[in-house]
Amino acid sequence: MSTTYVALFLFFLLSGYSALPLEGDGEDVDIAPDDLDNSIDGDGDGTIDISHLGANAYGTPTNESGHSVANWTESSLMNPEEMGEYAEGDILIPKPRGRNGISHETLRWPGGIIPYVIEGHFNQQQRDMIRMAIADYHRLTCLRFVPYKGQQDYITIQSRNTGCWSSVGRIGGRQEVNLQSPGCVTKKGTVLHELLHAIGFMHEQSRPERDDFVNIIYNNIRPGTENNFRKEDKKNTNDFGVSYDYNSVMHYSEYAFSRNSQKTIEPKVSGYKLGQREGLSRGDVRKVNNMYKCKKEGTDIEGDKKREPSTGWLGGIWQSLFGGNKDSE
Ligand SMILES: *[C@@H]1O[C@H](CO)[C@@H](O)[C@H](O)[C@H]1NC(C)=O
Ligand SMILES: *[C@@H]1O[C@H](CO)[C@@H](O)[C@H](O)[C@H]1NC(C)=O
Ligand SMILES: [Zn+2]
Repeated sequence: MSTTYVALFLFFLLSGYSALPLEGDGEDVDIAPDDLDNSIDGDGDGTIDISHLGANAYGTPTNESGHSVANWTESSLMNPEEMGEYAEGDILIPKPRGRNGISHETLRWPGGIIPYVIEGHFNQQQRDMIRMAIADYHRLTCLRFVPYKGQQDYITIQSRNTGCWSSVGRIGGRQEVNLQSPGCVTKKGTVLHELLHAIGFMHEQSRPERDDFVNIIYNNIRPGTENNFRKEDKKNTNDFGVSYDYNSVMHYSEYAFSRNSQKTIEPKVSGYKLGQREGLSRGDVRKVNNMYKCKKEGTDIEGDKKREPSTGWLGGIWQSLFGGNKDSE
């Protein structure tokens, strides 16, 4: 009998039954001990090409972008991060930070460790939203957001009335991720999206092969924002083994930068909705884990739920088109 108790005790001990909180300032997200095995396999360092953004990525935060996002509601046709005047709507490297003017590269976060501090004004619900987004990265990837304690490079999460925006990758020193309240902290996917930029990812529809998957309807694009639909240069991009992903939290919505409430982008295959902001998709998770060379990844992925036929003949087709668990390409 006592061996049963010993076994049970060992089970709880080894299975990481309780969550270990990180030390720190109260912004922390619990990490189950099991996650600690999910360490980086390799240094996870490297550069990120941002050349297709050109000079557009460099600028200053604007109040006008904030006014647009202030008008955003959950019933708006587009996502709030598609309302800014920044490169592709929400990519901004504040000017004084761009060392030597325009750089065509930024960096990954060494070891997948991202020091962060929340300095914006958020209510409890909004702070929880940010925490839940960070918890998703901890659960599904080997990235670790750790409380800022004087590290050289870190993220500060702000809430200024300048819209939703972030730099792409690590630019060095203090870098802002702005989540205007309430527009940018209403949906978890918007928080995940801006953090994915800071982690090092671009928009899904700027992939070089996107014209095989979506139609861009230039007639409906607001004049002056056509640049936001530019594609990356094939030779400078890395798809991290994940094929084009309609479910990506990094995909524009169908009405992004519309001048007339008509679609600006639509999938070539019917039945998909673009621009979900519920959670990371399986492709998003896999890309992060491949960029940062994580050994394993979590399951229970929200971004694909309700969008992905998982059973029956349709599910079979889905799996073969968009990949179940195999790495494509
Ligand atoms: C933007 O708004 C802030 C706060 O309302 C104000 O202090 C600042 O001067 C404005 N900036 C510009 C460029 O108008
Ligand atoms: C925000 O909405 C108000 C009222 O609906 C409108 O007058 C204003 O032009 C809008 N601002 C922007 C920047 O879209
Ligand atoms: Zn974005």
